[in-house]
Amino acid sequence: MTALDTSTAPAAAAAPGAPALVVTGLSIRFGGLTAVEDMTFEVNEGEVLSLIGPNGAGKTSAFNAITGYIQAASGSIVYRGAPLLGLKPNQIAAHGVVRTFQKTSVFNGLPVLDNVLVGLHLRARQHPLAIILGLPGVKRDEARLREAAWDILTLVGLDGRAHETAASLPYGELRLLEVAIALAAEPTLLLLDEPVSGMNPSETGAFMALLGRIRARGVTVLLVEHDMKMVMGVSDRVVCLNQGRIIADGPPAAIQRDPQVIRAYLGERYVRARG
Ligand SMILES: Nc1ncnc2c1ncn2[C@@H]1O[C@H](COP(=O)(O)OP(=O)(O)O)[C@@H](O)[C@H]1O
Ligand SMILES: [Mg+2]
Repeated sequence: MTALDTSTAPAAAAAPGAPALVVTGLSIRFGGLTAVEDMTFEVNEGEVLSLIGPNGAGKTSAFNAITGYIQAASGSIVYRGAPLLGLKPNQIAAHGVVRTFQKTSVFNGLPVLDNVLVGLHLRARQHPLAIILGLPGVKRDEARLREAAWDILTLVGLDGRAHETAASLPYGELRLLEVAIALAAEPTLLLLDEPVSGMNPSETGAFMALLGRIRARGVTVLLVEHDMKMVMGVSDRVVCLNQGRIIADGPPAAIQRDPQVIRAYLGERYVRARG
C-alpha cells in the first residue's frame, strides 16, 4: 500500500497500523449524568478493537458520539485527519465511519437483495426507487450496483436468501442483513454494537468468521460486545470502560488478566457464567 500524505488526502487509505480514529478527552453528558468522562483512545488502520465494560459503562454513548447521533460535551474525534465532532451522521458516513442499526435500517417488505441495493444507492446518490423500478436512466449503473450487492450478500453469506423478503429471515440472518446494509455504505471503519446479542452459538461462530472476512477486506472494526469468547477471539486490542472511564487498554491476553478489568467486569461475568 502506498504511503499517502494525510494532510492533503485525509480520506485516502492509510498504512495498516497507523492511527485511523483518534478520540481525545471525550466527555458525554445527559443532563447532570456523565456517561463518558475524558475518554482517550485510538483505533488503528486494519485492526479490530473491542470496547467492553459493564452495562451503563458508556459504550453505546461513545458509539453514538463517534457516529454523530449525539453531541459530545467536550473532546475531539478525528478520523484519518478529519475532525468529526459536530458533523451529522450522514456526513460522518461519507468519511467512511458507519455503524449498524438494529432493524431500523432494514426495509422488511423488500427482498434481501433490494435492501442492499437501497444502501448502495444512498452512496451512489441515486433515488432508491429508481433502481428498484429499473428506470431507463439508471440501467447501466444498475448492473454495476447489482454486482456490488451480490458481492456483499456473498460476503455476509446471504446470497442464497437474495430474493426472500427481509421479514422472512430468521433472527441471525436479519442481523447479517443489517451488516450487509452497513457495508453497502462502503465503510472504512465499521462500528458494531453488540452484534451477536441474542444469537445462538452457531450464529455467533458464523458472525466471527464474517468479521474475519470484513477485516480481510481492509475494513477497520470497532466492536462493542459482551460475548468474551468472541471479543478475545477476534480483537487485536481491547479497551475496557467502567462508569464512563477507560480502566484498561491492551491486547486481549493482558486485558483478561488485568485485575481492574476482572474486578469491574470480567469477574462478575465469569462467576455468573459458572452459575
Ligand atoms: N439518551 C440518554 N439519556 C439519558 N441518559 C442516558 C442516555 N443514553 C444513555 N444514558 C445513560 O448513560 C450511561 C451510559 O449508557 P450507555 O452508553 O448506554 O452504556 P453501555 O452501552 O455501556 O451499556 C447510563 O447511565 C445510561 O443510563
Ligand atoms: Mg450499550
